[in-house]
Amino acid sequence: MVLRSHSCTTIHLILLYFCINAFTSFANDTISVNQTLSGDQTIVSAGDNFVLGFFKPGKSPRHYIGIWFSKVPNQTVVWVANREIPVSDPNTAKLLISGGNLVLLNELGSEIWSTAVNSTSAVNSSLAAVLRDDGNLVLSDGTGSNPRSGQILWQSFDNPVHTWLPGGKIAYDKITERKQLLTSWKNEEDPAMGLFSLELDPNGSQYLIKWNRSEEYWTSGAWNGHIFSLVPEMRLTSYFNFSYVNNTNESYFTYSMHDPAVISRFIMDVSGQIKQLTIVNDNDWNLFWTQPREQCQVHDYCGGFGSCQNALPFCSCLPGFRVRNQSDWDLKDYSGGCVREMSLQCNGSNGRGDKFWPVTDVGLPVNEKPLTVGSVGECESSCFNDCSCTAYAYDEGIGCSVWNGDLVNLQQLNEGDGNGKVIHIRLSASSQVFSGSKNSKGSMIGVVAGCVGGALVVVAVVAGLIWRRRKRAVGSSKAVEGSLAVFAYKDLQNATKNFSDKLGGGGFGSVFKGTLPDSTVIAAKKLESITQGEKQFRTEVSTIGTIQHVNLVRLRGFCSEGSKKLLVYDYMENGSLDSHLFHANEIKFLDWKTRYQIALGIARGLSYLHEKCRDCIIHCDIKPENILLDPEFCPKVADFGLAKLVGRDFSRVLTTMRGTRGYLAPEWISGVAITAKADVYSYGMMLFELVSGRRNSESSEDGTVKFFPSWAANAVVNGGDILGLLDPVLDRNADTEQVLKICKIACWCIQDDEDTRPSMGQVSQILEGVMDVNVPPIPRSLQVFVETQEHIVFFTDSSTDQSSQAKSNASSNASSNSMNSVLSSTG
Ligand SMILES: *[C@@H]1O[C@H](CO)[C@@H](O)[C@H](O)[C@H]1NC(C)=O
Ligand SMILES: *[C@@H]1O[C@H](CO)[C@@H](O)[C@H](O)[C@H]1NC(C)=O
Ligand SMILES: *[C@@H]1O[C@H](CO)[C@@H](O)[C@H](O)[C@H]1NC(C)=O
Ligand SMILES: *[C@@H]1O[C@H](CO)[C@@H](O)[C@H](O)[C@H]1NC(C)=O
Ligand SMILES: *[C@@H]1O[C@H](CO)[C@@H](O)[C@H](O)[C@H]1NC(C)=O
Ligand SMILES: *[C@@H]1O[C@H](CO)[C@@H](O)[C@H](O)[C@H]1NC(C)=O
Ligand SMILES: *[C@@H]1O[C@H](CO)[C@@H](O)[C@H](O)[C@H]1NC(C)=O
Ligand SMILES: *[C@@H]1O[C@H](CO)[C@@H](O)[C@H](O)[C@H]1NC(C)=O
Ligand SMILES: *[C@@H]1O[C@H](CO)[C@@H](O)[C@H](O)[C@H]1NC(C)=O
Ligand SMILES: *[C@@H]1O[C@H](CO)[C@@H](O)[C@H](O)[C@H]1NC(C)=O
Ligand SMILES: *[C@@H]1O[C@H](CO)[C@@H](O)[C@H](O)[C@H]1NC(C)=O
Ligand SMILES: *[C@@H]1O[C@H](CO)[C@@H](O)[C@H](O)[C@H]1NC(C)=O
Repeated sequence: MVLRSHSCTTIHLILLYFCINAFTSFANDTISVNQTLSGDQTIVSAGDNFVLGFFKPGKSPRHYIGIWFSKVPNQTVVWVANREIPVSDPNTAKLLISGGNLVLLNELGSEIWSTAVNSTSAVNSSLAAVLRDDGNLVLSDGTGSNPRSGQILWQSFDNPVHTWLPGGKIAYDKITERKQLLTSWKNEEDPAMGLFSLELDPNGSQYLIKWNRSEEYWTSGAWNGHIFSLVPEMRLTSYFNFSYVNNTNESYFTYSMHDPAVISRFIMDVSGQIKQLTIVNDNDWNLFWTQPREQCQVHDYCGGFGSCQNALPFCSCLPGFRVRNQSDWDLKDYSGGCVREMSLQCNGSNGRGDKFWPVTDVGLPVNEKPLTVGSVGECESSCFNDCSCTAYAYDEGIGCSVWNGDLVNLQQLNEGDGNGKVIHIRLSASSQVFSGSKNSKGSMIGVVAGCVGGALVVVAVVAGLIWRRRKRAVGSSKAVEGSLAVFAYKDLQNATKNFSDKLGGGGFGSVFKGTLPDSTVIAAKKLESITQGEKQFRTEVSTIGTIQHVNLVRLRGFCSEGSKKLLVYDYMENGSLDSHLFHANEIKFLDWKTRYQIALGIARGLSYLHEKCRDCIIHCDIKPENILLDPEFCPKVADFGLAKLVGRDFSRVLTTMRGTRGYLAPEWISGVAITAKADVYSYGMMLFELVSGRRNSESSEDGTVKFFPSWAANAVVNGGDILGLLDPVLDRNADTEQVLKICKIACWCIQDDEDTRPSMGQVSQILEGVMDVNVPPIPRSLQVFVETQEHIVFFTDSSTDQSSQAKSNASSNASSNSMNSVLSSTG
């Protein structure tokens, strides 16, 4: 009955032959009476979509019966039978039909899992468990000869673990009042029931995510027939077909894929987020969407006295605390939280007692107790005098708050976030933190955000940063750090003929062409305004060095000698996208097919940066100047990681830099935290330019200023002349469907609300043609433009006088108002 076996390689072909012969009377997808499944035996669904057998998650020594995708290279488990009780030896454990049920017996022959149905009517010999092609394992009483036609006694779709497959449902049974839950694994290697679960709201058409089955921390919002109200990104595509069923017995949602060939799944992840993933061409899971969007919105994610930040590594311990259980922590189960390094003295006999340690820039923990006291001093002493009080915070406006017991949901915000508070944590006076330097105060959790959010705030914080003195000359071009070469300054000076061949410049430094002694052609970027210390610089650079993707410019090495800091990249023969787009002529221009491939390549590169690499990176400065083209016109995103490298100054330079502003998302100006969706916005603006072949802000031929994105959005929504939007050099030579698709995507990308913008992963999937794209709404900021028929240029290029333009247009709309405030504060 072994029809597919892990060890059945070519060497085992003969064995396999016997295997098959021994059980030819059974179908490959069925476990019938008198059959057992042990060791590495498996059954495979009829269309070879799913496999059932024993599996071992990660490095864990424990074995489980599970179902996984057959065609996905990395074993991706979708269902587990014995999630709580593993077996240690699958060769002596058995899965079989017994007593009217499918049961799992362990090494000792005791039953550790069962389908547990009372099948009084079942004729034993006709029971069978069939693994169907949709991933559903069905136990049926095959009255007659065919187990497929019998009455369903039990099915895995009614008993989900952490995965919701197309055709499955997460239901509420109105008769028994039983909720089907999608529950996370305990950690990445343990399928036991974790703390996070998704359930259907018995009272309404919405899903809820709860912590420990009780504390609700996310809701999808009510179903309106098309989307869940709080998941606006569902509007992007009709790729998934959700439907709501509400009858007298039960209510549930189910979904199917528009294209049944696409492999897709929802999981309740160990991160406490619900994730929808699909596999597209490259055999790799693409994240379609994730909710809640931010890691720190997950209740108690980092456990007691843990501190959460929305950037890797997400969880850390508060000062004076250490990880409670490192092995759990390493498996991304942070629920154990942190414990004190030194226990509290309270009114300790040594007379030293406890002290408070301030942690700055935090979002306060939950379960605070407000106290009515008059001053910060009284607030502190109230907490001090209560041995169970673990922290206090005092705010002029709100007054005094104290906390008892574990601090939960404390969030570390970026410095200068503007919403940050100070919390004073009670620690033993003999705790190490008090003997450290005063300067490390509150900085134990570094600011790791990819971009420094809040342009306005940042301007105020540009402090006189002191360059760290170079300790000793470092490196020669022979040295290697990780995968990166370390260059000596004088070698780069020689290679670039003393920086004579300038390729381009920007706010963060100029780029020079050079040739290494081995004749490799390089581009060396001389960085200005690096505010980081030597160690941090090297750490960041080696992170950038590990990131490799066909659509990202490869970093070959770097030079760091005091203030002389350079990055060395592969040289790209075809220069940057702007030169091809804006300076094209009748003979030399990018045809439509190339433009489409460029759009796709950039999307793939950015999606890799945002979602696929270990330390995700927000680029922050997507514009045609930063897209380089190789000899085959394959696009490569340049300058990623610079935002982090340059640090604070980045957003200041960015918002004042020539030619960048037209690509900046509104959140740069409003001062909220910057997410990957800021790159999506810039990408959208750039797509419009790829279509039109001119800067969005540029005057059209007849001399009137026409904001191209408004024009294009209008044509897409109201069915205008799509090919008429094209760069005139293309002479309407393009696939209309593709132009329409790109304009729709661009319009989705520049939505005012960042939640409504797609992710770069979604954009690649749409461009690849695996996913459709719906008609976008016209972004509010463009709507104003369209409705008033005023030719407002929101983000003009610096060729015109920005401040006077913006001021003259500061009529009534919010966009130009916020623009003004930036102009007046930065310029
Ligand atoms: C079982 O699978 C093997 C190979 O996948 C196939 O050759 C054989 O015909 C199948 N047997 C049945 C009964 O479907
Ligand atoms: C199972 O085995 C028993 C005894 O060995 C036999 O009588 C019975 O017919 C078998 N059932 C099937 C479905 O093969
Ligand atoms: C089914 O088999 C079990 C033992 O395997 C036996 O106890 C039970 O009586 C049988 N039921 C019927 C309906 O044959
Ligand atoms: C199965 O039957 C037993 C005894 O008759 C009963 O206690 C149990 O609740 C039943 N289980 C189900 C799922 O109906
Ligand atoms: C559903 O409604 C009942 C009664 O109105 C209420 O007690 C219960 O808390 C509600 N459940 C949820 C999840 O809102
Ligand atoms: C589901 O149907 C019941 C009646 O069967 C109705 O009372 C309830 O409002 C419906 N719920 C939703 C969310 O439509
Ligand atoms: C989860 O809730 C149960 C009671 O429902 C409680 O006993 C358990 O301690 C809770 N788990 C955690 C981690 O707080
Ligand atoms: C969506 O699913 C429902 C029920 O599953 C089906 O009736 C409907 O035809 C599907 N719609 C599309 C566009 O596939
Ligand atoms: C509800 O359950 C009853 C009893 O199982 C069944 O007869 C009826 O058809 C079910 N109704 C629906 C709408 O499925
Ligand atoms: C498969 O898993 C390994 C290890 O988890 C990972 O490095 C690799 O990228 C994965 N491959 C795919 C195609 O997902
Ligand atoms: C950490 O937790 C695991 C179970 O999750 C347990 O086996 C292990 O002993 C714990 N380690 C420590 C140091 O408490
Ligand atoms: C600790 O000392 C303070 C002042 O000396 C006193 O007010 C308080 O009650 C003491 N607390 C405990 C728990 O002994």
